[in-house]
Amino acid sequence: MEFFIDTADIDEIRELAATGLVDGVTTNPSLIAKSGRQFIEVIKEIADVVPGPVSAEVTSLEYDGMISEGRKLAAIADNIVIKLPLTPDGLKACKTFSDEGIDTNVTLCFSSAQALLAAKAGATYISPFIGRLDDLAQDGLMLISDIVEIYSAYPDISTKVLVASTRSPLHVVEAAKMGADTATIPPAVLRAMFKHPLTDKGLESFMADWKKTGQSIL
Ligand code: E4P
Repeated sequence: MEFFIDTADIDEIRELAATGLVDGVTTNPSLIAKSGRQFIEVIKEIADVVPGPVSAEVTSLEYDGMISEGRKLAAIADNIVIKLPLTPDGLKACKTFSDEGIDTNVTLCFSSAQALLAAKAGATYISPFIGRLDDLAQDGLMLISDIVEIYSAYPDISTKVLVASTRSPLHVVEAAKMGADTATIPPAVLRAMFKHPLTDKGLESFMADWKKTGQSIL
């Protein structure tokens, strides 16, 4: 499973990329606003730090504007993925970019029907937002299971399922069990994935016993 981090905070990205476990980055207009930085500048910096796919979202709501913005964003670096909303104009723009060989991430997906349309439009990634569905007492992970099942039934669909709006390690683990291709994970959730109290406890006792031996490896 690919792990993307869901943030526009360059310090977080640098720190987590150094673990070697980060395959890509997703951003959205809210994350850019939170960073307090210039969109183009921060995307360029992220694309320099992480060689994998970096999603940059268009903000125009109409096809022509999406195409102009998408082209400008795609020109920033080879690893930019154009993020487009799941609307008729967004999918039309997705088809255009897909025909031109430009990678796309169709965002704000909340149903299997929408995921089918995105695949048909040639999306590189579909982003179903599971946390936001859970917030409405709808089962976000069930949507992932449905999309994985549908896409698997059609070998000609190459769209990857990018699990978005993840809120916990369990979201990531359950999506992995379902065979989702990718998860975009907030930094705090990725850090939480390292944690287990028995790891800390075990390490503490190993180190205490090692100290008793008076030895050193080097
Ligand atoms: C995905 O690309 C989005 O940026 C993100 O996962 C949204 O997550 P949220 O629901 O926590 O805002």
